[in-house]
Amino acid sequence: MRDTYAAERVHGFGTTIFSEITTLAIQHGAINLGQGFPDFAGPEWVKQAAADAIAADLNQYAPGIGLPRLRNAIAVHWARNGWREIDPDREVTITSGATEALFGALMALVNPGDEVICFEPFYDAYVPDITMAGGVPRFVRLYPPVGGGVADARAASWRFDHDELAAAFTQRTRAIIVNTPHNPTGKVFTRAELEYIARLCQEHDVVAITDEVYDQMVYDDVEHVLLATLPDMWKRTLTINSSGKTFSLTGWKIGYAIGAPHLTWALRQAHQWITFATATPLQAALAVGLETAPERGYYAELRADYRERRNLLTQVLGDAGLPTLPVEGSYFIMADISNTGFASDAEFCLWLTREIGVAAIPPSSFYADHTDLPLLARFCFAKRLETLQAASERLKRLGDASRVLGC
Ligand SMILES: Cc1ncc(COP(=O)(O)O)c(C=O)c1O
Repeated sequence: MRDTYAAERVHGFGTTIFSEITTLAIQHGAINLGQGFPDFAGPEWVKQAAADAIAADLNQYAPGIGLPRLRNAIAVHWARNGWREIDPDREVTITSGATEALFGALMALVNPGDEVICFEPFYDAYVPDITMAGGVPRFVRLYPPVGGGVADARAASWRFDHDELAAAFTQRTRAIIVNTPHNPTGKVFTRAELEYIARLCQEHDVVAITDEVYDQMVYDDVEHVLLATLPDMWKRTLTINSSGKTFSLTGWKIGYAIGAPHLTWALRQAHQWITFATATPLQAALAVGLETAPERGYYAELRADYRERRNLLTQVLGDAGLPTLPVEGSYFIMADISNTGFASDAEFCLWLTREIGVAAIPPSSFYADHTDLPLLARFCFAKRLETLQAASERLKRLGDASRVLGC
């Protein structure tokens, strides 16, 4: 008998830092600002729509590509935002979360040996998705801003080096993954940056997979631009989103992918053998969510609530001696921990969870190349104000504890 029956493709995956921190957070009763999910309820009217759909017996398999009503609602949402008129039958596919759409996209668009560019730090699923598809990840650094502050977010945004990105494109490049608004940095890619990426994609005939799950969470006067809407990019961009983030219902795992018919066709080829279809009543409920959100003022309220949470956590961390980097979008905030005396972000986050009772994620787990990493910790502000205030009380001990440790 072998030591393990596991295939080679899963050998390097290990256990994620999320599991380690969450286990520790539970053990020590820590307030979990590590994992990225809301600790508040999704909208009543969407939850009620799910209950109604179950009662009305919408409980059998949905069509593989998704319920027509939900695909229509997504097409209307795109048209209403002025992004594009899309064909719900040929250009929209409903998936089990953005997670499935990302995996399906890579399986559908990448051949073994093809290179796939992604920015680091990256959302952790990208690398296993690329390697499971037989692809080879190529990383391009996002550099943190010097300085910070919420008010001047644009002037102090994370950025990539244009030459480094251009150099990452080779004859073997098949795809680039662009996550905007970006997890974990909170960066929103500017129109100029996306135009530069678009130019490289066109020059090298590369397909773009965009992960836009936080598109409703952009703050101040920052604009979320869709790569797919830039000239000549529709035919080479697959746009991925997730209603779990938009409606604070992450456990529902309803995502979707939008793309020109040839890209959608490829994705659907993979999707039919991955999950085939996803939860029918939840799709019906999210159709109601998308249809009625604008008239309820839902998006504006969501954004205002998140802005308040972001500002509170910025204040709380700053008061605790952890200055934060600007957050343009998403529900994550990066704090500078270079003054704490810890040499590694992982050690700091484990210590913070254990000793202070607040859990955060070390961003080093989102890098492949560990040279010259900035010393940061990622906190999630998708939490009730009470949760953030409770964390604030605990973080007050940070200064004392650091002094005791001689940090
Ligand atoms: C950038 C990014 N993409 C995708 C996902 C996964 O989305 P879903 O829960 O819809 O699968 C997440 C979840 O945290 C995320 O942060």
